[in-house]
Amino acid sequence: MSLKFEPLTPDFGAEIFGVNLIGNSSDSLIEEILDLWNEVGGLIVIRDQILTSEDHINFSRNFGPLFGDLNNPPLQDTVSRYIHPHFPQIYRVSNQTDNKGEPIGRKGAGTYWHSDVSFRECPAQASILHGKVVPPVGGDTIFANQTKAYSSLSKGMKSIIDSLSAWHDFEIAARTQYAKPILVEDDIGVKNRALHPIVRTHAVTGKKSLYVNPGFTSHIEGFNNEESELLLEFLYEHCIRPEFLHRHRWKKNDLLIWDNRTTMHYAVMDYQDDQPRYMERCTVIGERPA
Ligand SMILES: [Fe+2]
Repeated sequence: MSLKFEPLTPDFGAEIFGVNLIGNSSDSLIEEILDLWNEVGGLIVIRDQILTSEDHINFSRNFGPLFGDLNNPPLQDTVSRYIHPHFPQIYRVSNQTDNKGEPIGRKGAGTYWHSDVSFRECPAQASILHGKVVPPVGGDTIFANQTKAYSSLSKGMKSIIDSLSAWHDFEIAARTQYAKPILVEDDIGVKNRALHPIVRTHAVTGKKSLYVNPGFTSHIEGFNNEESELLLEFLYEHCIRPEFLHRHRWKKNDLLIWDNRTTMHYAVMDYQDDQPRYMERCTVIGERPA
């Protein structure tokens, strides 16, 4: 492999150096990035990428079809107001407003532990986030390695959860994260609700990861509420142990690629509105978890 990179933690993540993704990158470079991404557990940082929205979309399509692509489903209607007006594949995250006072992106997106779009039957695999304007300090994103979280469990606990499934439901986050007039009621229901195995096997690497998250998981199938809450609370506490985490401090033009099948993330909102932040995300549609 000719890519220059350094690990971000002993167990997952890598920062790649000396690549430029503008325009059409070579097939071999893309292949090396994809291989490394899988090899390091699904978190890649590439700094100093001056990309247009089109560059970002073209690069992201190497990972798979995108939410918002022609003939593919969009994200939930509730976030349609944050989608780029010219590029339906781009979800905008920002604390800024335009000259009419309309938000130019979702403020406070993902300020809870979650795996993107886990409430769909085919949830997100890669999310590819480009930091176009970032505050001088604050607004970090924290990632939790769910492959390590699973492998660290005892044989006994693995045998309990290996055969279990849990429901993921957009309504869980929607009711607490979105104000009334913004939440589109039509998003509540079967189209944003899905049953997934608690332990999923990665389609490429074959590694197992925990796949429940406090943001969207509602309950464990076949358990009563008390039983479900007890087990989920244990798993939630376990899966964010400090040794599973990496905290990314953003710089302008950082491009982050994470795998929602193997990681959870948390957006830290500790910056003020007078510190502008603007990011664009492409979200790759994944396979049905198994
Ligand atoms: Fe997210």
